Amino acid sequence: MEMKYSLLATRFRFLFNIILIFTYLISFSLAANSSNYETDEVLSGYIFAEPSTRSIQDDDFLNPGMFWVENGETIWNKKEGAKGLSCNTCHGESTSMKGVSLRYPKVFKENKKLINLEQRINMCRKKMEVKEFEEDSRDILSLSTLISNKSRNMKFNYKVTENNKKWYHLGEKLYYKKIGLMGLSCNQCHDERVGSNLRAEKVSQGQINGFPAYLLRWSKVVSVHKRIQFCNEQARALPFAINSDENNALQFYMSVRGNGLNVETPAVRK
Ligand code: HEC
Ligand code: HEC
Repeated sequence: MEMKYSLLATRFRFLFNIILIFTYLISFSLAANSSNYETDEVLSGYIFAEPSTRSIQDDDFLNPGMFWVENGETIWNKKEGAKGLSCNTCHGESTSMKGVSLRYPKVFKENKKLINLEQRINMCRKKMEVKEFEEDSRDILSLSTLISNKSRNMKFNYKVTENNKKWYHLGEKLYYKKIGLMGLSCNQCHDERVGSNLRAEKVSQGQINGFPAYLLRWSKVVSVHKRIQFCNEQARALPFAINSDENNALQFYMSVRGNGLNVETPAVRK
């Protein structure tokens, strides 16, 4: 019994030391290069991306995110189900979606919950009496990329109202909350360390105006929620689920925080 206990204690001390060293290394590398971007101005992640990445985004023929847009267009016009309905049947051409992505996440009147664009699309799938798209699947992201792309170059102009302020405040709280083994909050990187290098990446303001965005490292388009999860994991924190209230609240807070930025969907990032 005593043997076991001391073994356990040694293991725990070992683990603790590892975490300590890790935390030290990380905070050192964060502190080592101070920020050149101390500004109140909102800045797109585009400004922090490498020139080679930017040039891929700038050219629709090179931007692999445009394949998602094209795939979205195909799905938009595809008739499905017993009634043979497509998105086009009720909404007309996909250009009719101009400006729509800028209204999401939005409080849904029936249950007062905040829903994002992907959840809204799946509600129409129900109306069509066809299977809902799987969460974060290629199909749903193709449609949300298509729809967001229709608002490209339109400005973020989110308003906090009586109706949505509860979600705004939850999002704000989560943005400043220290999480994970490293005890890091979003603002510690995306406000306090903007412009610093973190493992060969320049830390941006963590804006979401390019989402859904194409990530070169994963060779695919990802949602805002997926990107937030990736940051959670880097802070060694348990991520909130895709489409959860928490991620929607964070997304809404970050939308307001990004007011003034232009939609870039599909942006290209490392
Ligand atoms: C049977 C008709 C019908 C079909 C088919 C349909 N929708 Fe809808 N859709 C609606 C209605 C009705 C609304 C609600 C309009 C409103 O709230 O003003 C709506 C709303 C939306 C909205 C939110 C618009 C906004 O201004 O907030 C989006 C996005 C959307 N649909 C996408 C799609 C997509 C993508 C498809 C195909 C997968 C689709 N819809 C198929 C009827 C349909
Ligand atoms: C340890 C530092 C760190 C923390 C903490 C962190 N992130 Fe990030 N985040 C990064 C890095 C590095 C990137 C990739 C480079 C960049 O765009 O900043 C990134 C990228 C992003 C992006 C994509 C920006 C773009 O233009 O493509 C978003 C959105 C984001 N983070 C949101 C968050 C949110 C929300 C939180 C808190 C839950 C968070 N991050 C916590 C380091 C961090």
